[in-house]
Amino acid sequence: MKNKKFYLETYGCQMNEYDSHLVESLLTSAGFEKTEDEKGADIVILNTCSVRQHAEERALGRIRSISSAGKRQEIAVIGCMAQRMGDELLSVNSDVKYVLGTDSFYKIAEILESGNGSHIVDISCRDEPFDYESKPSGQSLSDYVTIMRGCDNFCSYCIVPYVRGRERCRPPERIVEEINRLDQNGRKEIWLLGQNVNSYKFDSMDFSALLGNVLENTEIPRIRFLTSHPKDFSQALIERMASDKRICKGIHLPMQSGSDAVLKKMNRKYTAGEYLDKIRKLREAISDVVITTDIIVGFPGESEDDFRRTLDMVEEIEYDSAFMFRYSVRSGTRAEKFGDDIPEEVKLERLDQLIRLQKRISEKKMAAQIGRLQTVLLERTAKQSAQDARGKNDGGLNVVARGGSKYLGEFADVEIKSSSYSTLVGEIAGRQE
Ligand code: SAH
Ligand code: SF4
Ligand code: F3S
Repeated sequence: MKNKKFYLETYGCQMNEYDSHLVESLLTSAGFEKTEDEKGADIVILNTCSVRQHAEERALGRIRSISSAGKRQEIAVIGCMAQRMGDELLSVNSDVKYVLGTDSFYKIAEILESGNGSHIVDISCRDEPFDYESKPSGQSLSDYVTIMRGCDNFCSYCIVPYVRGRERCRPPERIVEEINRLDQNGRKEIWLLGQNVNSYKFDSMDFSALLGNVLENTEIPRIRFLTSHPKDFSQALIERMASDKRICKGIHLPMQSGSDAVLKKMNRKYTAGEYLDKIRKLREAISDVVITTDIIVGFPGESEDDFRRTLDMVEEIEYDSAFMFRYSVRSGTRAEKFGDDIPEEVKLERLDQLIRLQKRISEKKMAAQIGRLQTVLLERTAKQSAQDARGKNDGGLNVVARGGSKYLGEFADVEIKSSSYSTLVGEIAGRQE
Protein backbone atom coordinates (compact mmCIF):
# COMPACT_ATOMS: atom_id res chain seq x y z
CA MET A 1 0.00 0.00 0.00
CA LYS A 2 1.35 3.45 -0.83
CA ASN A 3 2.17 5.74 2.07
CA LYS A 4 -0.53 8.25 2.93
CA LYS A 5 0.54 11.80 2.15
CA PHE A 6 -0.16 14.64 4.54
CA TYR A 7 -0.10 18.40 4.06
CA LEU A 8 0.34 20.46 7.22
CA GLU A 9 -0.54 24.12 7.71
CA THR A 10 0.19 26.05 10.91
CA TYR A 11 -1.56 29.09 12.41
CA GLY A 12 -0.82 30.99 15.61
CA CYS A 13 2.26 31.28 17.73
CA GLN A 14 5.69 29.66 17.97
CA MET A 15 4.28 26.96 20.28
CA ASN A 16 2.07 25.81 17.44
CA GLU A 17 5.05 25.80 15.09
CA TYR A 18 6.93 23.63 17.55
CA ASP A 19 3.94 21.29 17.83
CA SER A 20 3.70 21.11 14.04
CA HIS A 21 7.33 19.93 13.89
CA LEU A 22 6.35 17.31 16.42
CA VAL A 23 3.36 16.18 14.38
CA GLU A 24 5.51 16.01 11.27
CA SER A 25 8.10 13.96 13.10
CA LEU A 26 5.50 11.57 14.60
CA LEU A 27 3.79 11.03 11.26
CA THR A 28 6.94 10.50 9.19
CA SER A 29 8.25 8.04 11.80
CA ALA A 30 4.98 6.13 11.43
CA GLY A 31 5.42 5.90 7.63
CA PHE A 32 3.30 8.84 6.47
CA GLU A 33 4.80 11.06 3.80
CA LYS A 34 4.92 14.84 4.05
CA THR A 35 3.99 16.80 0.93
CA GLU A 36 4.14 20.51 0.06
CA ASP A 37 1.53 19.89 -2.64
CA GLU A 38 -1.80 20.44 -0.96
CA LYS A 39 -3.82 19.04 -3.84
CA GLY A 40 -1.85 15.79 -3.88
CA ALA A 41 -2.34 15.12 -0.16
CA ASP A 42 -4.62 12.40 1.22
CA ILE A 43 -5.04 14.32 4.42
CA VAL A 44 -4.83 18.02 5.17
CA ILE A 45 -3.90 18.91 8.75
CA LEU A 46 -4.61 22.39 10.10
CA ASN A 47 -2.85 23.28 13.35
CA THR A 48 -5.07 26.10 14.54
CA CYS A 49 -5.12 29.18 16.80
CA SER A 50 -7.96 30.70 18.84
CA VAL A 51 -6.33 33.80 20.25
CA ARG A 52 -8.52 36.20 18.26
CA GLN A 53 -11.74 35.72 16.29
CA HIS A 54 -9.85 36.50 13.09
CA ALA A 55 -7.46 33.56 13.61
CA GLU A 56 -10.41 31.19 13.88
CA GLU A 57 -12.16 32.71 10.86
CA ARG A 58 -9.07 32.13 8.73
CA ALA A 59 -8.91 28.45 9.68
CA LEU A 60 -12.66 28.01 9.15
CA GLY A 61 -12.31 29.66 5.73
CA ARG A 62 -9.53 27.22 4.86
CA ILE A 63 -11.69 24.26 5.85
CA ARG A 64 -14.38 25.54 3.48
CA SER A 65 -11.96 26.10 0.61
CA ILE A 66 -10.28 22.68 0.99
CA SER A 67 -13.66 21.01 1.08
CA SER A 68 -15.09 22.91 -1.87
CA ALA A 69 -12.07 22.04 -4.04
CA GLY A 70 -13.86 18.71 -4.32
CA LYS A 71 -10.84 16.44 -3.81
CA ARG A 72 -12.55 14.60 -0.99
CA GLN A 73 -9.50 14.89 1.18
CA GLU A 74 -9.75 14.12 4.86
CA ILE A 75 -9.26 17.16 7.08
CA ALA A 76 -7.71 16.96 10.54
CA VAL A 77 -8.10 20.04 12.74
CA ILE A 78 -5.64 20.09 15.61
CA GLY A 79 -4.40 22.63 18.18
CA CYS A 80 -6.14 25.44 20.04
CA MET A 81 -9.30 25.89 17.94
CA ALA A 82 -9.78 22.11 17.92
CA GLN A 83 -9.51 22.14 21.70
CA ARG A 84 -12.01 25.00 21.99
CA MET A 85 -14.61 23.79 19.50
CA GLY A 86 -14.35 20.00 19.77
CA ASP A 87 -17.39 18.22 18.28
CA GLU A 88 -18.74 21.48 16.90
CA LEU A 89 -16.10 21.30 14.16
CA LEU A 90 -17.62 18.13 12.74
CA SER A 91 -20.82 19.98 11.97
CA VAL A 92 -18.92 22.89 10.40
CA ASN A 93 -17.94 20.69 7.48
CA SER A 94 -18.41 17.00 6.74
CA ASP A 95 -14.83 16.62 5.43
CA VAL A 96 -13.49 17.36 8.93
CA LYS A 97 -12.77 13.86 10.11
CA TYR A 98 -10.38 14.28 13.01
CA VAL A 99 -10.37 16.87 15.78
CA LEU A 100 -7.41 16.63 18.13
CA GLY A 101 -6.86 19.09 20.95
CA THR A 102 -3.69 20.55 22.42
CA ASP A 103 -2.99 17.54 24.64
CA SER A 104 -4.12 14.85 22.20
CA PHE A 105 -2.31 15.71 18.99
CA TYR A 106 0.63 13.49 19.99
CA LYS A 107 -1.67 10.51 19.30
CA ILE A 108 -2.10 11.66 15.70
CA ALA A 109 -0.25 8.78 14.02
CA GLU A 110 -2.25 6.04 15.72
CA ILE A 111 -5.49 7.93 15.19
CA LEU A 112 -4.88 8.46 11.46
CA GLU A 113 -3.79 4.83 11.08
CA SER A 114 -6.90 3.55 12.81
CA GLY A 115 -9.11 5.75 10.60
CA ASN A 116 -11.88 3.31 9.75
CA GLY A 117 -14.28 5.77 8.26
CA SER A 118 -15.57 7.12 11.54
CA HIS A 119 -15.04 10.62 12.85
CA ILE A 120 -12.69 10.99 15.80
CA VAL A 121 -12.73 13.83 18.30
CA ASP A 122 -10.20 13.76 21.13
CA ILE A 123 -9.87 16.84 23.28
CA SER A 124 -9.02 15.09 26.51
CA CYS A 125 -6.80 17.13 28.81
CA ARG A 126 -3.89 15.74 30.71
CA ASP A 127 -2.50 17.78 33.54
CA GLU A 128 0.51 15.50 33.92
CA PRO A 129 3.87 16.77 32.67
CA PHE A 130 4.34 16.24 28.94
CA ASP A 131 7.52 14.95 27.45
CA TYR A 132 7.79 14.36 23.76
CA GLU A 133 10.13 15.88 21.28
CA SER A 134 10.59 15.92 17.53
CA LYS A 135 13.45 14.63 15.47
CA PRO A 136 15.34 17.59 14.06
CA SER A 137 14.40 18.02 10.42
CA GLY A 138 15.46 20.26 7.56
CA GLN A 139 18.40 22.57 7.33
CA SER A 140 17.35 25.47 9.50
CA LEU A 141 19.90 27.19 11.72
CA SER A 142 17.41 28.25 14.34
CA ASP A 143 14.83 26.15 16.15
CA TYR A 144 12.34 26.19 18.98
CA VAL A 145 12.48 24.19 22.20
CA THR A 146 9.34 24.17 24.32
CA ILE A 147 10.22 24.35 28.02
CA MET A 148 6.69 24.55 29.38
CA ARG A 149 3.11 24.14 28.25
CA GLY A 150 -0.09 25.86 29.28
CA CYS A 151 -0.65 29.03 31.25
CA ASP A 152 -1.96 29.81 34.75
CA ASN A 153 -2.21 33.57 34.41
CA PHE A 154 -5.78 34.00 33.21
CA CYS A 155 -5.38 37.47 31.77
CA SER A 156 -9.06 38.37 31.49
CA TYR A 157 -9.11 38.71 27.68
CA CYS A 158 -7.14 35.56 26.88
CA ILE A 159 -8.30 32.14 25.70
CA VAL A 160 -4.89 30.46 26.02
CA PRO A 161 -5.30 29.07 29.58
CA TYR A 162 -8.58 27.46 28.50
CA VAL A 163 -7.23 25.85 25.35
CA ARG A 164 -3.72 24.99 26.52
CA GLY A 165 -4.51 23.95 30.08
CA ARG A 166 -2.50 24.40 33.26
CA GLU A 167 1.17 25.27 33.30
CA ARG A 168 3.47 22.24 33.13
CA CYS A 169 7.26 22.54 33.05
CA ARG A 170 9.62 20.20 31.35
CA PRO A 171 12.57 18.65 33.21
CA PRO A 172 15.81 20.58 32.61
CA GLU A 173 17.75 17.49 31.56
CA ARG A 174 15.28 16.84 28.72
CA ILE A 175 15.55 20.47 27.57
CA VAL A 176 19.34 20.17 27.56
CA GLU A 177 19.18 16.87 25.67
CA GLU A 178 16.95 18.35 22.99
CA ILE A 179 19.21 21.39 22.58
CA ASN A 180 22.27 19.16 22.24
CA ARG A 181 20.51 17.07 19.61
CA LEU A 182 19.62 20.23 17.67
CA ASP A 183 23.19 21.49 18.02
CA GLN A 184 24.52 18.21 16.57
CA ASN A 185 22.12 18.73 13.68
CA GLY A 186 23.60 22.09 12.78
CA ARG A 187 21.43 24.52 14.72
CA LYS A 188 23.23 27.66 15.88
CA GLU A 189 20.37 29.31 17.73
CA ILE A 190 17.51 28.06 19.88
CA TRP A 191 14.43 29.77 21.26
CA LEU A 192 13.21 28.54 24.64
CA LEU A 193 9.42 28.71 24.43
CA GLY A 194 6.61 29.10 26.94
CA GLN A 195 3.57 31.35 27.37
CA ASN A 196 5.37 32.79 30.35
CA VAL A 197 8.93 31.48 30.53
CA ASN A 198 9.62 33.53 33.65
CA SER A 199 7.36 31.32 35.71
CA TYR A 200 9.36 28.20 34.76
CA LYS A 201 9.87 26.07 37.85
CA PHE A 202 11.14 22.51 38.04
CA ASP A 203 11.88 21.35 41.59
CA SER A 204 13.94 24.27 42.83
CA MET A 205 15.07 25.44 39.39
CA ASP A 206 13.62 28.74 38.18
CA PHE A 207 14.03 30.25 34.71
CA SER A 208 17.27 32.11 35.27
CA ALA A 209 18.74 28.94 36.86
CA LEU A 210 17.52 26.97 33.83
CA LEU A 211 19.39 29.39 31.57
CA GLY A 212 22.50 28.80 33.70
CA ASN A 213 22.01 25.05 33.32
CA VAL A 214 21.61 25.34 29.53
CA LEU A 215 24.73 27.52 29.30
CA GLU A 216 26.72 25.01 31.30
CA ASN A 217 25.56 21.84 29.59
CA THR A 218 25.26 22.89 25.94
CA GLU A 219 27.43 24.73 23.46
CA ILE A 220 24.67 26.19 21.33
CA PRO A 221 26.02 29.63 20.35
CA ARG A 222 22.81 31.64 20.68
CA ILE A 223 19.97 31.34 23.16
CA ARG A 224 16.73 33.34 22.93
CA PHE A 225 13.51 33.01 24.86
CA LEU A 226 9.82 33.95 24.55
CA THR A 227 7.54 35.18 26.18
CA SER A 228 8.35 37.06 29.38
CA HIS A 229 5.45 38.17 31.55
CA PRO A 230 6.41 41.50 33.14
CA LYS A 231 5.11 40.47 36.58
CA ASP A 232 7.69 37.64 36.76
CA PHE A 233 10.53 39.36 34.95
CA SER A 234 13.22 39.35 37.61
CA GLN A 235 16.46 41.15 38.39
CA ALA A 236 18.16 37.73 38.47
CA LEU A 237 17.12 37.21 34.85
CA ILE A 238 18.37 40.67 33.85
CA GLU A 239 21.72 39.85 35.45
CA ARG A 240 21.85 36.46 33.74
CA MET A 241 21.15 38.09 30.36
CA ALA A 242 23.83 40.69 30.95
CA SER A 243 26.41 38.17 32.10
CA ASP A 244 26.71 35.83 29.13
CA LYS A 245 27.19 36.63 25.46
CA ARG A 246 25.39 33.46 24.36
CA ILE A 247 22.10 34.81 25.74
CA CYS A 248 20.84 37.20 23.10
CA LYS A 249 20.12 40.77 24.10
CA GLY A 250 16.54 40.87 22.94
CA ILE A 251 13.43 40.66 25.06
CA HIS A 252 9.73 40.44 24.26
CA LEU A 253 7.90 42.00 27.19
CA PRO A 254 4.18 42.43 26.45
CA MET A 255 2.85 45.62 28.02
CA GLN A 256 -0.77 45.24 26.77
CA SER A 257 -1.80 48.70 28.02
CA GLY A 258 -0.29 51.81 29.61
CA SER A 259 -3.31 52.45 31.85
CA ASP A 260 -3.33 51.09 35.39
CA ALA A 261 -7.14 50.82 35.34
CA VAL A 262 -7.06 48.73 32.14
CA LEU A 263 -4.13 46.61 33.35
CA LYS A 264 -6.10 45.84 36.51
CA LYS A 265 -9.17 44.81 34.55
CA MET A 266 -6.93 42.71 32.31
CA ASN A 267 -5.63 40.93 35.43
CA ARG A 268 -2.03 41.60 34.42
CA LYS A 269 -0.82 42.09 38.03
CA TYR A 270 1.54 45.01 37.39
CA THR A 271 1.14 48.76 37.07
CA ALA A 272 2.52 50.96 34.31
CA GLY A 273 5.02 52.35 36.84
CA GLU A 274 6.29 48.88 37.79
CA TYR A 275 6.61 47.98 34.12
CA LEU A 276 8.61 51.14 33.41
CA ASP A 277 10.85 50.39 36.34
CA LYS A 278 11.72 46.97 34.91
CA ILE A 279 12.48 48.50 31.51
CA ARG A 280 14.77 51.02 33.20
CA LYS A 281 16.66 48.29 35.08
CA LEU A 282 16.97 46.25 31.92
CA ARG A 283 18.47 49.17 30.01
CA GLU A 284 20.79 50.02 32.89
CA ALA A 285 22.21 46.49 32.73
CA ILE A 286 22.20 46.07 28.94
CA SER A 287 22.34 49.44 27.21
CA ASP A 288 21.73 48.15 23.65
CA VAL A 289 18.98 45.65 24.55
CA VAL A 290 16.26 45.26 21.90
CA ILE A 291 12.80 45.47 23.48
CA THR A 292 9.59 44.42 21.74
CA THR A 293 6.04 44.21 23.04
CA ASP A 294 2.37 43.33 22.49
CA ILE A 295 -0.40 45.91 22.93
CA ILE A 296 -4.18 45.56 22.84
CA VAL A 297 -6.39 48.57 22.01
CA GLY A 298 -10.12 48.81 22.59
CA PHE A 299 -10.29 46.62 25.68
CA PRO A 300 -13.74 46.95 27.35
CA GLY A 301 -14.08 50.33 29.07
CA GLU A 302 -10.84 51.75 27.58
CA SER A 303 -11.38 55.53 27.70
CA GLU A 304 -9.60 58.13 25.56
CA ASP A 305 -7.50 58.89 28.62
CA ASP A 306 -6.57 55.19 29.07
CA PHE A 307 -5.55 55.01 25.42
CA ARG A 308 -3.54 58.24 25.77
CA ARG A 309 -1.57 56.53 28.57
CA THR A 310 -0.72 53.66 26.24
CA LEU A 311 0.55 56.13 23.62
CA ASP A 312 2.56 57.95 26.30
CA MET A 313 4.18 54.70 27.46
CA VAL A 314 5.07 53.75 23.89
CA GLU A 315 6.55 57.20 23.36
CA GLU A 316 8.54 57.01 26.57
CA ILE A 317 9.83 53.43 26.21
CA GLU A 318 10.55 53.53 22.48
CA TYR A 319 10.17 49.86 21.65
CA ASP A 320 12.19 48.53 18.75
CA SER A 321 8.98 47.01 17.43
CA ALA A 322 5.53 46.00 18.63
CA PHE A 323 2.66 43.66 17.80
CA MET A 324 -0.53 45.67 18.10
CA PHE A 325 -4.03 44.21 18.19
CA ARG A 326 -7.67 45.21 18.39
CA TYR A 327 -9.42 43.59 21.31
CA SER A 328 -11.38 40.51 20.25
CA VAL A 329 -13.93 38.98 22.63
CA ARG A 330 -13.23 35.34 23.44
CA SER A 331 -16.07 33.32 24.68
CA GLY A 332 -15.67 31.91 28.19
CA THR A 333 -13.06 34.46 29.29
CA ARG A 334 -13.67 36.85 32.17
CA ALA A 335 -13.55 39.88 29.89
CA GLU A 336 -16.50 38.52 27.92
CA LYS A 337 -18.66 39.63 30.84
CA PHE A 338 -17.34 43.21 30.57
CA GLY A 339 -19.12 43.59 27.23
CA ASP A 340 -17.42 44.79 24.06
CA ASP A 341 -18.31 48.43 24.38
CA ILE A 342 -15.67 50.14 22.25
CA PRO A 343 -17.12 50.62 18.75
CA GLU A 344 -15.20 48.95 15.94
CA GLU A 345 -14.37 52.28 14.27
CA VAL A 346 -12.89 53.60 17.53
CA LYS A 347 -10.77 50.44 17.91
CA LEU A 348 -9.56 50.85 14.34
CA GLU A 349 -8.79 54.53 14.77
CA ARG A 350 -6.81 53.84 17.98
CA LEU A 351 -4.94 50.97 16.36
CA ASP A 352 -4.06 53.12 13.39
CA GLN A 353 -2.80 55.92 15.63
CA LEU A 354 -0.70 53.48 17.66
CA ILE A 355 0.76 51.79 14.59
CA ARG A 356 1.72 55.15 13.10
CA LEU A 357 3.46 56.17 16.33
CA GLN A 358 5.31 52.86 16.64
CA LYS A 359 6.40 52.94 13.00
CA ARG A 360 7.94 56.38 13.52
CA ILE A 361 9.77 55.10 16.62
CA SER A 362 10.94 51.90 14.88
CA GLU A 363 12.29 53.95 11.96
CA LYS A 364 14.20 56.22 14.34
CA LYS A 365 15.63 53.33 16.38
CA MET A 366 16.68 51.41 13.29
CA ALA A 367 18.33 54.50 11.80
CA ALA A 368 20.35 54.87 15.00
CA GLN A 369 22.04 51.55 14.15
CA ILE A 370 23.63 52.97 10.98
CA GLY A 371 27.42 52.86 11.22
CA ARG A 372 27.40 50.16 13.91
CA LEU A 373 28.93 46.72 13.63
CA GLN A 374 26.47 43.88 14.28
CA THR A 375 27.00 40.15 14.61
CA VAL A 376 24.48 38.46 12.32
CA LEU A 377 23.69 34.78 11.85
CA LEU A 378 23.26 34.58 8.07
CA GLU A 379 20.26 32.30 7.77
CA ARG A 380 19.00 32.52 4.21
CA THR A 381 19.38 34.16 0.84
CA ALA A 382 17.72 37.58 0.70
CA LYS A 383 14.56 37.92 -1.39
CA GLN A 384 15.83 40.94 -3.35
CA SER A 385 19.14 39.46 -4.51
CA ALA A 386 20.68 35.99 -4.54
CA GLN A 387 24.06 37.52 -3.61
CA ASP A 388 22.71 38.92 -0.35
CA ALA A 389 21.87 37.04 2.83
CA ARG A 390 19.51 37.79 5.67
CA GLY A 391 19.48 36.96 9.33
CA LYS A 392 19.11 38.45 12.78
CA ASN A 393 21.51 40.45 14.90
CA ASP A 394 22.05 39.63 18.55
CA GLY A 395 19.01 41.63 19.66
CA GLY A 396 16.80 39.97 17.05
CA LEU A 397 16.57 42.77 14.47
CA ASN A 398 16.40 41.71 10.80
CA VAL A 399 19.57 42.41 8.85
CA VAL A 400 20.32 42.02 5.13
CA ALA A 401 24.06 41.59 4.47
CA ARG A 402 25.12 42.57 0.97
CA GLY A 403 27.26 39.90 -0.64
CA GLY A 404 26.54 37.66 2.34
CA SER A 405 25.25 34.60 0.49
CA LYS A 406 28.81 33.16 0.34
CA TYR A 407 28.74 32.88 4.09
CA LEU A 408 25.30 31.35 4.64
CA GLY A 409 25.16 29.46 7.93
CA GLU A 410 27.90 31.53 9.53
CA PHE A 411 28.07 34.39 11.99
CA ALA A 412 29.35 37.53 10.32
CA ASP A 413 30.14 41.07 11.44
CA VAL A 414 28.03 43.41 9.38
CA GLU A 415 28.50 47.16 9.21
CA ILE A 416 25.06 48.76 8.96
CA LYS A 417 24.72 51.22 6.06
CA SER A 418 20.99 51.90 5.79
CA SER A 419 17.69 51.05 7.43
CA SER A 420 13.90 50.95 7.17
CA TYR A 421 11.45 50.56 10.07
CA SER A 422 11.81 46.77 9.89
CA THR A 423 15.18 45.90 8.33
CA LEU A 424 18.81 46.96 8.55
CA VAL A 425 21.03 46.69 5.49
CA GLY A 426 24.81 46.44 5.70
CA GLU A 427 28.06 45.06 4.38
CA ILE A 428 30.18 42.19 5.61
CA ALA A 429 33.07 43.53 7.65
CA GLY A 430 34.39 40.21 8.91
CA ARG A 431 33.47 36.68 9.88
CA GLN A 432 33.34 34.91 13.19
CA GLU A 433 34.01 31.31 14.00
N1 SAH B 1 1.74 34.44 26.61
C1 SAH B 1 2.02 35.56 25.88
C2 SAH B 1 1.22 35.86 24.63
C3 SAH B 1 0.06 35.10 24.26
S1 SAH B 1 -1.02 35.63 23.03
C4 SAH B 1 1.95 36.72 26.80
O1 SAH B 1 1.39 36.69 27.85
O2 SAH B 1 2.44 37.75 26.42
C5 SAH B 1 -0.16 36.89 22.15
C6 SAH B 1 -0.77 38.25 22.26
O3 SAH B 1 -2.07 38.25 21.71
C7 SAH B 1 -0.97 38.75 23.68
O4 SAH B 1 0.19 39.28 24.23
C8 SAH B 1 -2.03 39.81 23.48
O5 SAH B 1 -1.47 41.08 23.18
C9 SAH B 1 -2.80 39.32 22.27
N2 SAH B 1 -4.15 38.84 22.64
C10 SAH B 1 -4.45 37.80 23.44
N3 SAH B 1 -5.80 37.69 23.56
C11 SAH B 1 -6.34 38.68 22.82
C12 SAH B 1 -7.67 39.09 22.55
N4 SAH B 1 -8.71 38.47 23.09
N5 SAH B 1 -7.86 40.15 21.71
C13 SAH B 1 -6.80 40.80 21.17
N6 SAH B 1 -5.53 40.44 21.39
C14 SAH B 1 -5.28 39.40 22.21
FE1 SF4 C 1 -2.74 34.71 27.76
FE2 SF4 C 1 -1.93 36.10 29.83
FE3 SF4 C 1 -1.28 33.52 29.65
FE4 SF4 C 1 -0.17 35.28 27.99
S1 SF4 C 1 0.10 35.23 30.22
S2 SF4 C 1 -1.03 33.31 27.45
S3 SF4 C 1 -1.82 36.76 27.65
S4 SF4 C 1 -3.32 34.36 29.92
FE1 F3S D 1 -2.96 30.82 19.29
FE2 F3S D 1 -2.88 28.71 20.79
FE3 F3S D 1 -0.68 30.09 20.37
S1 F3S D 1 -4.49 30.21 20.80
S2 F3S D 1 -1.44 32.16 20.07
S3 F3S D 1 -1.81 28.99 18.85
S4 F3S D 1 -1.26 29.05 22.24
